[in-house]
Amino acid sequence: MNNRTHMCGQVTIQEAGQSVVLKGWVQRSRNLGGLIFVWLRDHTGIVQVVFDGNTLSPDLFALAESLHGEYVLEVHGKVAKRVPEAVNAKLKTGEIEVIVEEATILNTSKTPPIYIEEETREQEALRLKYRYLDLRRPSMQQMLRTRHQVVRLLREYIDSQGFVEVETPILTKSTPEGARDYLVPARVKPGCFYALPQSPQIYKQLLMLSGLDKYYQVARCFRDEDGRADRQPEFTQFDMEMSFIEPDDIQAVVEGAYRHVFKELMHIDIPQPLPRITWREAMARYGSDKPDTRFAMEISDVSETVKGCGFQVFESALEGGQTVCGLCAKGAARFSRKEIDALGEFVKTYHVKGLAWAVVAEDGSLRSSFAKAMQGDSMQRLLNALGAQAGDAIFVIADKRNIALTAMGQLRLRLGRELGLIDTNRYDLLWVTEFPLLEWDEESNRFNAMHHPFTNVMQEDVALMETDPGAVRAKAYDLVLNGVEMGSGSIRIHQSELQEKMLRLLGFTREEAWSRFGFLLEAFQYGTPPHGGFAFGIDRMVMMLTGAESLRDVLAFPKIQNGACLMMDTPAPVQKEQLDQLHIDVLQTEKR
Ligand code: AMO
Repeated sequence: MNNRTHMCGQVTIQEAGQSVVLKGWVQRSRNLGGLIFVWLRDHTGIVQVVFDGNTLSPDLFALAESLHGEYVLEVHGKVAKRVPEAVNAKLKTGEIEVIVEEATILNTSKTPPIYIEEETREQEALRLKYRYLDLRRPSMQQMLRTRHQVVRLLREYIDSQGFVEVETPILTKSTPEGARDYLVPARVKPGCFYALPQSPQIYKQLLMLSGLDKYYQVARCFRDEDGRADRQPEFTQFDMEMSFIEPDDIQAVVEGAYRHVFKELMHIDIPQPLPRITWREAMARYGSDKPDTRFAMEISDVSETVKGCGFQVFESALEGGQTVCGLCAKGAARFSRKEIDALGEFVKTYHVKGLAWAVVAEDGSLRSSFAKAMQGDSMQRLLNALGAQAGDAIFVIADKRNIALTAMGQLRLRLGRELGLIDTNRYDLLWVTEFPLLEWDEESNRFNAMHHPFTNVMQEDVALMETDPGAVRAKAYDLVLNGVEMGSGSIRIHQSELQEKMLRLLGFTREEAWSRFGFLLEAFQYGTPPHGGFAFGIDRMVMMLTGAESLRDVLAFPKIQNGACLMMDTPAPVQKEQLDQLHIDVLQTEKR
């Protein structure tokens, strides 16, 4: 039996005079001649243990002298109150120390390649190579425990709502969520492959067909896409599905789950119900389908205002059916010409041709890239429409509506950051609803499903599927927190014919649709209940709740941008025999 009596960080003044047995890692050791002070650490904190040469046997004192960082130590001793001048306010246990009576080295350690200290100065690559040591740092320990709490609270809430957790297969068929699949070769069926699930989407729909009524799963998902701070190739969703529902029903469940986590973990009451905004309005006001509403600086459509203004760029855009939109950045008159030019370059990366700007100096004088070309009072009317006053700057873009709004949305975010407008203590949660069903893909010259191909159409828009598919709105909704997409869901198609029609809109022939999704189209013919669901990223939720900057900081063993794990050095080559069994021949290998 483990004879440990206390965790290192939990020995307090209450225990003064008591005998304790502690186990942990040597954080550091200071030898002051006859006295050796050792900081012993476990995940709860650090406690000082003292080896006194005057009272200990020479062997035990020699053991203390041999200690190095990260040695694993068992200590038996008595808790002693420190004299006032020796109290260390920085340690939770700083009012006491443990006077060692016995000690055993349970294991030695090489000098670690990274410092195991709170303030890490190490390069991320080194931390990830030695992740098991990096995880010894208190903040990483805290992260793992917060993550555990988040999942525990989610389960607690969702269980209370009558949902049943069902595990769905990992070896499966491609589920179209818009990314590339990870494939697993099948030994018993040469030339055939399983795909790892991008999400349990199809299974959870089939479970509704089976009559489960309310499903959930803490589901591992796999997507072969380029890594980003908020994207990992394997990640975890909190995945749900319900039968006989409308969007409000599932949204209420998701809100309840979020409310529970925010309340229990952060002691924050989130609004009930959460605000809702349609996709169209979100694009118009914030230039984004995941608006950061922690600051205003909304976008305005100024097409009407600049009609007939004389500035050729605006005039010809409007003649071509394009949009002119702008925003007013309060206090941005202090930007230098160089800074403004950098903003112009920035928006061009979002495929617009340029950025028109005007600065109203504190004395009311105007500097502008286009004011000269504006006739009559049109410049003043534009400044008024955007609400510009002395000290402000306005920025205007003319382009195709969605392109102009998206670029403006990105500019808004950048300006919000640069002008310090974002209140980082706020948690702004909101629903974005009524997403378009389809989006046009210029490259392949066809429609893609904006959410996924199983998303249902808003009743009012069904007829448009034949006449104007691009204008059809879906029964789809996203949950957004501080400008980050936390999760998304939809009411699903539950009729075989409508599902076929949708697949046709996405460019599948009837044969292709049946060969890929035949099992689903057939299943839909056996009394499928209307149903819908939602999934949110647990990793993203933990990232937002802990203030981490990247998903890499909230996963125990994350991957880097190119999908590699630096600790295990994966992906890695395999034995030729293994490939032979799988009937695989690697034709060309690039330099690894
Ligand atoms: P979607 O593809 O929007 O929907 O994913 C849902 C949520 O999962 C998280 N997420 C990710 N997190 C980390 N790394 C990634 N690569 C990654 N990709 C997605 C996000 C996202 O909002 N089956 C549908 C849900 C449904 O319709 O019920 C789906 O997977 O937080």
